[in-house]
Amino acid sequence: MTNSDSRPTLAILISGRGSNMVAIARTCLSGALNARVTLVISNRPDAPGIEAAREMGIDTAVIDHKAFASRQAFDDALHERLMSVKPDWIVLAGFMRILTEDFVNRWQGRMLNIHPSLLPKYPGLDTHARAIAAGDRHAGASVHIVSPELDAGPVVAQVRVPIESDDTADTLAQRVLQEEHGLYIKALQLCVGKMDQ
Ligand code: GAR
Repeated sequence: MTNSDSRPTLAILISGRGSNMVAIARTCLSGALNARVTLVISNRPDAPGIEAAREMGIDTAVIDHKAFASRQAFDDALHERLMSVKPDWIVLAGFMRILTEDFVNRWQGRMLNIHPSLLPKYPGLDTHARAIAAGDRHAGASVHIVSPELDAGPVVAQVRVPIESDDTADTLAQRVLQEEHGLYIKALQLCVGKMDQ
């Protein structure tokens, strides 16, 4: 990429498989999303998504949270690495760490997260099992602006997925995940496209 590339930049944070990250990166490469992914960071050294990002030619970093004595120390290291590329947006895509209020405030209004529920229902973990146990007719996923309170920032876009009578948390998670990729791209088109730059 040349320095004259003026597309908004994304840093994507992952903890595992990275299928949302790959979908976003591919859509940027195809030109269907007017942005480019400049860095993928994982807090887990064994996250398969890191290899997938490398194969796509994206710069990667591993910042192992276990190497830090406190949440604040980890978030400071994360912030420092992000500042080396100064992304326009931080995209949390299966990033399974709670971020400190300090960190969130530093990137306020420029950080998105995808959560596998129809927020405000089921913040936190085990969202699909909780939706099935409650007898809900629909599950889904939400993309929201990250605020200091967990999974509570303003929702940008949501997708609803019917819950079938024989669904387990795993079968439901698979169907929701298939919808998450398009949802995240739609949310990015809305947010990144709105950037005043
Ligand atoms: C996705 O289902 C995402 O919604 C969820 O983790 C999965 C990551 O999949 N995120 C959360 O639970 C955040 N609280 P991926 O690594 O294949 O994108």
